[in-house]
Amino acid sequence: MTQFATMQQALTKRRQQQLHRSQRCMQPLPDGMVRVQGKDYLNFSGNDYLGLAQDPAVLVALTEGASRFGLGSTGSPLVTGFQYPHQALSELLCDWLGFDEVLLFSSGFAANQAMLQTLVANDERILLDKLSHASLIDAATAHAGGFKRFLHNDLSSLHQLLTQHPAGKAVVVTEGVFSMDGDSPDLAAMAALCGQHQAPLLLDDAHGLGVFGAEGRGSWQLQGVASSQLQALMANFGKALGGSGGFIAASATVIDYLRQFGRHYIYSTALSPALCWAQRKAVQLCRQDEWRRERLQQHLCLFKQLAQAADIPLLPSGSAIQPVLVGDASRCLALSQALQQKGIWLTAIRPPTVAAGKARLRITLSAAHQPEHIRRLVAALQELF
Ligand SMILES: Cc1ncc(COP(=O)(O)O)c(C=O)c1O
Repeated sequence: MTQFATMQQALTKRRQQQLHRSQRCMQPLPDGMVRVQGKDYLNFSGNDYLGLAQDPAVLVALTEGASRFGLGSTGSPLVTGFQYPHQALSELLCDWLGFDEVLLFSSGFAANQAMLQTLVANDERILLDKLSHASLIDAATAHAGGFKRFLHNDLSSLHQLLTQHPAGKAVVVTEGVFSMDGDSPDLAAMAALCGQHQAPLLLDDAHGLGVFGAEGRGSWQLQGVASSQLQALMANFGKALGGSGGFIAASATVIDYLRQFGRHYIYSTALSPALCWAQRKAVQLCRQDEWRRERLQQHLCLFKQLAQAADIPLLPSGSAIQPVLVGDASRCLALSQALQQKGIWLTAIRPPTVAAGKARLRITLSAAHQPEHIRRLVAALQELF
């Protein structure tokens, strides 16, 4: 019997466990709002941290990019897909982040898969943070040399694993900001530890890029890590940069290696040129508009201050991701539905996205919100908790 015969059963079980998920047709609006089935909500579940997804200048660039370069890239990058918008975006990213070269991918997920599957040799072990994103876990699981997970953000656990591997036989992977907890590792100490053990450090900074550091260069820059201490940096356009797609930044040698051997890059249609043109504008705004990061920080301070005063249990996060741990998945879902009644869109994050018993309301803040939105959110949470 193949899996097709048991699918209905598996779906029924998911429903019984109250873990079945559905997708809703959402219409994003400016000012951190979203329309669902004709009703407007405050959106505290998106990743548009700087409000760039709806920025008028970015949308003008998208239209201009479409009329000048077309919708589709018409091919994979090594055939016909790498065009002027791709080149211009890549050069801008290098200039911004201080890496030799950059390679663009259709998603951050694909970039992470390419990073681990291409850059780590079969006789090398991947050492991965326990709470890593699914795209990293899946790539590590498929790795012929195997992988081990160190305790979340725990340097002594990583150190222990490093001492079990000969120098040059382990590659360390972590995130600048963890997507479900919003916290960060001590990247400077981790880079130093990796240096002592000759272990390359690969960083996924999907949630740090644009939000932290000078000109929004990211978590690593904020923590004083040099680009030369990272063998590869992966980040994406789908969070603070308001679009979609991903990239890897690294030395010229690493990028050329990925270009030659990275199957996710070679055998996939290059990003839309119109999107790359708009993404370029988003990067320019992200770099220059310090006010967006300041506004986000103000929202963050206001949220934490009000939530603490209201006794709402927060996790230790200094990022735009502010989870409220609920524990039980059904209760979390009920809270999310009750918030909807109050005009607030806040998705319940349940297993298997997080571990059993760790269901949460994952609040994401944006520069697009108004202080009044934050006050409404905390007042609603206080009433429900
Ligand atoms: C930490 C992290 N890495 C990678 C990804 C995947 O990126 P993308 O959504 O661009 O595929 C995500 C987002 O979903 C993420 O949160």
